[in-house]
Amino acid sequence: MKKFNFPIIKPYAWGKELSNVAKVLASGWLTQGPYADRLEKKINAYIGSRFSFLVNSATSGLIAGLEALGLQSGDEVIVPSFTFPATANSVVIAGGRPVFCDIDLATFNIDADKIEALITGKTKGIIAVHAFGLAADMAAVRKIAGKHRLFIIEDAACSFGAEYQGRKTGLFSDVGVFSFHPRKIITCGEGGCVVTNNRETAKKIACLRNHGEYDKKFINRGYNFRLSDIQAAVLDAQMERVDAIIERRIKLSRNYQALLKPWEKRGILKAPLCPRGYRHIYQSYVVLLADYVDRDKVKMFLKGKSIETQFGTYCVPALDYYLKNFPAPKEAYADAYYAFAHSLALPLYHTLSAGDQEYIIGRLNQAINMVAR
Ligand SMILES: Cc1ncc(COP(=O)(O)O)c(C=O)c1O
Repeated sequence: MKKFNFPIIKPYAWGKELSNVAKVLASGWLTQGPYADRLEKKINAYIGSRFSFLVNSATSGLIAGLEALGLQSGDEVIVPSFTFPATANSVVIAGGRPVFCDIDLATFNIDADKIEALITGKTKGIIAVHAFGLAADMAAVRKIAGKHRLFIIEDAACSFGAEYQGRKTGLFSDVGVFSFHPRKIITCGEGGCVVTNNRETAKKIACLRNHGEYDKKFINRGYNFRLSDIQAAVLDAQMERVDAIIERRIKLSRNYQALLKPWEKRGILKAPLCPRGYRHIYQSYVVLLADYVDRDKVKMFLKGKSIETQFGTYCVPALDYYLKNFPAPKEAYADAYYAFAHSLALPLYHTLSAGDQEYIIGRLNQAINMVAR
């Protein structure tokens, strides 16, 4: 694995995380236990949720959420075309059919104006993804879901701590799901959390997470989606720093924004947008390059300067499995495909300095000048 001087992300500090883990190991209780129980309460307090369930990944959380909301074989779920494959995979695993909806290139989020045309008699729900830490337009999604009696799941994998209309993401829907993968705001290696305010849904998720067990009775079939207390101990320490981490990411993103202004004015790229009424937490800092800039050559040039970059995320309907099994019309992913080909995520981590950012943008400018077609 290549080591970069400027990696795309670096997990922040390992102090209390280590001592917490030592306590768990010494206690002898390694599976989900007291750390996870306490942390779920802290997450409820932070997000404002009534119920939260730590799980071993956001993917598991999405599967549990879909099953808890009653997804049946052949049911359709509308998902954005530009997202990590897990969003659509979870629908397929839960027995449903993902129906792809294109995105708004200004925000990288689902284009709510295009949802209604995709609704059929089989549609049961919508998964709204909060891309890169910016909430989707939940008012518009909720309006459509209400009109057609659809459930909503927020794939909030990238948006722990993000806000929309003054409230944290995760509760603008029936079920919200966060990820604690290392590229997320806070991490414990692998992990996730499901939140809901609905008692019945919560009961079903509790069952699905733990082999179908509820209140010491096995009342359902289920999985082992639990998070170990070793991971919960790491996450507990990370949780204490979540707002400091987010504030730092917002500050660094503003620096990038200022450095990129001249390039934006010339139409060479677009920096991420944060509309009024939103708190973007910049899980990734993703710029969109003009179509005459060869993104992959820019990436290669930056790699040569030891700067790691990434494409934003995937155009899922254009991936082999989905092309073959769930073919979607081109209109369902024209803008998602553009974003797949022209987005570029820049390094963003707690210890990145303003000087580092100037260096990175200096090299980016050099790269664009060299490779613009
Ligand atoms: C939008 C989105 N959904 C779901 C996932 C899956 O998260 P996890 O790796 O925790 O299963 C990711 C991970 O990157 C993601 O970006």
